[in-house]
Formats: sequence, C-alpha cells, structure tokens
Amino acid sequence: MEIAPGAFHLPGYLSLEEQKVLATRCQALIDGRVPGYVPRVRGGGVMHVRMLCLGRHWNGLIYKYESSRSDFDGLAVPPLPEEFRRLANGIAASVGMPLDADLCILNYYDAAGRMGVHQDKDESDASLAAGHPVVSLSVGDAARFLFGGVRRRDPVDAIRLESGDAFVFGGPARLRFHGVSRIAPGTAPPGLGVAGRFNLTFRQY
Ligand code: SIN
Ligand code: MN
Repeated sequence: MEIAPGAFHLPGYLSLEEQKVLATRCQALIDGRVPGYVPRVRGGGVMHVRMLCLGRHWNGLIYKYESSRSDFDGLAVPPLPEEFRRLANGIAASVGMPLDADLCILNYYDAAGRMGVHQDKDESDASLAAGHPVVSLSVGDAARFLFGGVRRRDPVDAIRLESGDAFVFGGPARLRFHGVSRIAPGTAPPGLGVAGRFNLTFRQY
C-alpha cells in the first residue's frame, strides 16, 4: 500500500519459508569471512547495529561508498548475491519503480538496536535524480520504523515493520528522513529461529 507518493509498505511480502531462507543467509553472511561489524561514524559515535555491506561498502566515517572497508579492516567488500539482486528488483517492479540494485546494506539489530533518523543520500547523483528506490526487507523481531518528510523538521510517522515486510521509497519519497526508534524483542514469528532483526536495504549506486 502506498503510504505517501513514492513510498510503499508491503506487509508480509515474504512467506515464512522465504523468511527462514533469508534469515539463515543473513546470519551466515554476518558471521562469514568478511563479517558484520559495528561502524564508527563521523563525530566519534558508534552505530547501534551490526552492519555488513554487499556490492559496495558504505564508509560511515566519510559517508561515501568504496570497494574495500577502509574504515574497519581493509577487506574487500563481498559481492551482492545474484538472488538478492533479483529479489530487490522484483519488489521495486511490483510497485512500478525501476531498480537495478548493485549494493545492499545488511543490518542486524539486537534488542537494544536502533538507528537515528537520517536520509539515504550517499548514492550517485544520477541515481538520486532518477529516484531509483531504496528497497527494505525485514526479518525477525518487529521494529518501530520512523518515516518523515524531506526536511528534518517535517512530522514523522511511526510504522511497525514486521518480519517479512518490504518497504520501498523512491521517486518523490527517495530523500525522506527515516530511522528505527526501537525493536520489539521476542516478536519474531515462532519457528523462524531469529532473536533480533535483520534489515536489508538495497540501492542502485
Ligand atoms: C536504514 O535506514 O538503513 C535501515 C532501516 C531499517 O532498519 O528498517
Ligand atoms: Mn537509511
């Protein structure tokens, strides 16, 4: 459903089986040879998620993308899996938005995880100008997702993102402020076997 021009909440986009496959894949990636880590950001703070970038690395110290993790361990960024790319492009197409995803930021939120309100604006000028959407997929515990306007002072709506939900913001909504104020611990579907929350945001650089 379109909650604002260019912004779509797709509750239950993934079946429980699809959520299980995705959660297992996310866990393996985050615990893999190039592991998830807690980014330091400019200003000296640390984020309240464990992050792993695929396809391109987002450097939180300089708010730019790069091919290796120069702000952490120098390792080359792992590729974006082809099935992730297809999944994201299909979600965007389902709401009529063109996307050829080439990067994903995978975040793991534990019970205390959160993310301050921000804009996603470090992708290329051409991508932002075209309004190629950010496609978000969530698996695990529910989150209180904040979705505002294109100015920081604009009012913010709270949307509960549940396991399996997709959220797409592109076109006129591409630069809307958003964040996660809290996780609802223990609300992942029984049988999923996830404590905490995985969120994947796909973008086209
Ligand atoms: C993000 O804004 O990058 C993450 C959003 C979310 O976790 O739902
Ligand atoms: Mn974001």
